[in-house]
Amino acid sequence: MKKSMLTLFALACLLSHYVVGGPVEAAKPAAKVSKTSCATCHTDLSAVVPKGHPPVKGSDIAACLGCHKPDASGKAAKNRISTGLHRAHVGEGGKVDCMMCHTWKPGKSFGLQDQKVSFGSPTKDELEAMKKVFASWKSSGYTDTLHGKAGIVCGGCHGSAMAREGDTVENSRCLECHGPMEKLAKKSEPQDFPDRNPHKSHLGEIACTVCHKGHAESKTYCIECHKLFKMKKIPGGSASQ
Ligand code: HEC
Ligand code: HEC
Ligand code: HEC
Ligand code: HEC
Ligand code: HEC
Ligand code: HEC
Ligand code: HEC
Repeated sequence: MKKSMLTLFALACLLSHYVVGGPVEAAKPAAKVSKTSCATCHTDLSAVVPKGHPPVKGSDIAACLGCHKPDASGKAAKNRISTGLHRAHVGEGGKVDCMMCHTWKPGKSFGLQDQKVSFGSPTKDELEAMKKVFASWKSSGYTDTLHGKAGIVCGGCHGSAMAREGDTVENSRCLECHGPMEKLAKKSEPQDFPDRNPHKSHLGEIACTVCHKGHAESKTYCIECHKLFKMKKIPGGSASQ
């Protein structure tokens, strides 16, 4: 095709869009609302909150936070509002930028739009490390996903709302929710070979994270030496274990 013909072709395409409506027409309302608006995708927020929930008015994150105060304490507890909002909007297929709801001054603060709250002071690299985890939180199938589904946010394990590179989680934190150890060991005691218990063995007290990885495939360490042991599959591990 010659250049002039190409130009004509492109013009014709453009014109047909304006005349017929189609994509251009559909995109118009979206272009008008502000960058931070929920209305880009939800005409009525009352339609996406749990059944029996009080009606919700508004079109930004403040619409939720008037009644639900943000919690930056990083306590070992559920927070279904946080897991619900993050799992629906960020991660694979999620097209919403963090800054639709958050504010960020690199190295100084990370908060929420129109709210006086700061979850920490991540640098650019630290925010990137978190974003990487958020991106696979819903779908990795690892320990993080199992907790997200159950309403446990990052801070529920990490102890502070902002996790950093090199972070890990101490046994005592896991046991705040899964303990005491004796109870856990009782639960996982195999009926056929009671001493092949992942939570009570000759290894003594070892880190939970030797086997249970936060953001990678979990693996039962015992099997590295005892290749013939048949042990119950570890949650968040590979299907073929
Ligand atoms: C780019 C489009 C888009 C924008 C913008 C958007 N959402 Fe959503 N939202 C979705 C989609 C898609 C789902 C359904 C996801 C699913 O089913 O997992 C959803 C689900 C939800 C849910 C249900 C979550 C749950 O627990 O299952 C709530 C609540 C919600 N959105 C609130 C908001 C609020 C508040 C805003 C503005 C701060 C907002 N959304 C902005 C696309 C959007
Ligand atoms: C008018 C006050 C009000 C507003 C505004 C509001 N909520 Fe709620 N919400 C409640 C009440 C009351 C409950 C039930 C008690 C509770 O669990 O806190 C609740 C419960 C919830 C729960 C279940 C919590 C759980 O632990 O199971 C979710 C999820 C939720 N709200 C999400 C939202 C989202 C998302 C928004 C904004 C789009 C929002 N709410 C706006 C009052 C409100
Ligand atoms: C749809 C709105 C929305 C989007 C998009 C969103 N957040 Fe949030 N985020 C919230 C709300 C609301 C809270 C406060 C929840 C609370 O404390 O109850 C929060 C809290 C947090 C926390 C602290 C809570 C904890 O302990 O885990 C972190 C960290 C965070 N967000 C990171 C991110 C990152 C990174 C992104 C982008 C990948 C993102 N958020 C995108 C609404 C959003
Ligand atoms: C079930 C507990 C748990 C939850 C929930 C959890 N993490 Fe982690 N996280 C861990 C553990 C354990 C590690 C240590 C590395 C590993 O085992 O994968 C870790 C490590 C990290 C690291 C450091 C990675 C590195 O390369 O050094 C970051 C960053 C992180 N988590 C962010 C997050 C974010 C963001 C969330 C929420 C979306 C989250 N975590 C939720 C347990 C958890
Ligand atoms: C704030 C509480 C809390 C903390 C902290 C916590 N968990 Fe959990 N965990 C839960 C809840 C709730 C579930 C989902 C319900 C269930 O299966 O018990 C869960 C699920 C799990 C599962 C999957 C169970 C299954 O059968 O699918 C494993 C494995 C697990 N947690 C291990 C850990 C480890 C290891 C740590 C520490 C790195 C940890 N948890 C920290 C609350 C917590
Ligand atoms: C040597 C590897 C290993 C270590 C270390 C380990 N686990 Fe496990 N864990 C497993 C295996 C394998 C399973 C699956 C077996 C089962 O559920 O009976 C499991 C299951 C679990 C479950 C799910 C139990 C259920 O039935 O709901 C939880 C919760 C859990 N572990 C928490 C922990 C905590 C907390 C620690 C540290 C105090 C820990 N694990 C240390 C291998 C390990
Ligand atoms: C670093 C290698 C190693 C790891 C990891 C390991 N073991 Fe062992 N285990 C041994 C050795 C060596 C013996 C003693 C020689 C033998 O009898 O095989 C042993 C003996 C045993 C025995 C008694 C003998 C038998 O074969 O029945 C049991 C039961 C056992 N281990 C369970 C476990 C469990 C459960 C785990 C994980 C929580 C584990 N081991 C992790 C090396 C390991």
